[in-house]
Amino acid sequence: MFPVNRPRRLRQNWQIRRMVQETVLTVNDLVYPLFVVPGEGVAKEVKSMPGVYQLSVDKIVEEAKEVYDLGIPAIILFGIPEEKDEKATGAWHDCGIVQRATEAVKKAVPDLIVINDTCLCEYTTHGHCGYLEVGDLVGRVLNDPTLELLKKTAVSQARAGADIIAPSGMMDGMVKAIREALDANGFSHVPILSYAAKYASAYYGPFREAAESAPSFGDRRTYQMSPANSREALKEIQLDVEEGADMLMVKPALAYMDIIWQVKQATNLPVAAYNVSGEYSMIKAAALNGWIDEKRVTMETLLGLKRAGADLILTYHAKDAVRWLNEVTF
Ligand code: PBG
Ligand code: ZN
Repeated sequence: MFPVNRPRRLRQNWQIRRMVQETVLTVNDLVYPLFVVPGEGVAKEVKSMPGVYQLSVDKIVEEAKEVYDLGIPAIILFGIPEEKDEKATGAWHDCGIVQRATEAVKKAVPDLIVINDTCLCEYTTHGHCGYLEVGDLVGRVLNDPTLELLKKTAVSQARAGADIIAPSGMMDGMVKAIREALDANGFSHVPILSYAAKYASAYYGPFREAAESAPSFGDRRTYQMSPANSREALKEIQLDVEEGADMLMVKPALAYMDIIWQVKQATNLPVAAYNVSGEYSMIKAAALNGWIDEKRVTMETLLGLKRAGADLILTYHAKDAVRWLNEVTF
């Protein structure tokens, strides 16, 4: 007996396949992360992330133009300060590296959306995402004192022209604290993209080389979430929605596609997925060895994240992906 239902009828050629394609990745879905360093004319490749560079402000501006010309709507900036200290001064100072880069990019490319990552880990001597009691080597990150620094950081970033504030430190109450601080300083129009469900992940390894932000002792498990938990992610999401988040992020992306899906079902807010450094480096390493087809694997990965529910994807592949959008079909 021959089957009556023949799903293959709709797969027989590319014209039909494209008509019934359910998920489409577009340039509008992409956000490109950039790392700003002090100096001039600096473009230093990150060893563990081929194709990703630490760039000085002048180079960031050049890069921003290229990103804008490719049609990518937004960049997210991470900063490596001249000096680090206990109070993360470089994070909240009006002359901080991210503030200066933001001003320069907004001046040169006003229509490119500039997201600022709002955290302290790149700016503290110990590399943790919050404030430690002076002399505390156990790594107890003090929640509420950290909120005060995050408020100052967010306001100073908004003052520099940041279009979107993205707190990533997983401190309790950070969205509410930042919302109130922005509102009180005339920035009620600036949206918050909360890293709402951020896991304590080994996939961040290469990022910590790029951002020079590895904790000097201990780890981040007292504030980032356990990879074992998914109901806890929904709790974090609910709190951030109540506190006034405008968009929610799940991070990392690949090992957490079930979380992306659940967050999408649980809220009406836009959901972002962070395709993190380790995910990028794995594809790059395999591609450089000739073991996989970089183009197809990259596009399949990004499409998969969108299918899982991501409205936005933060990815180091963004520039390549735009070039490959028309080349790779399914
Ligand atoms: C920390 C932060 C991390 C990333 C962005 N901001 C992770 C961490 O060091 O814990 C990771 C991004 C990536 O791996 O690409 N606030
Ligand atoms: Zn941090």
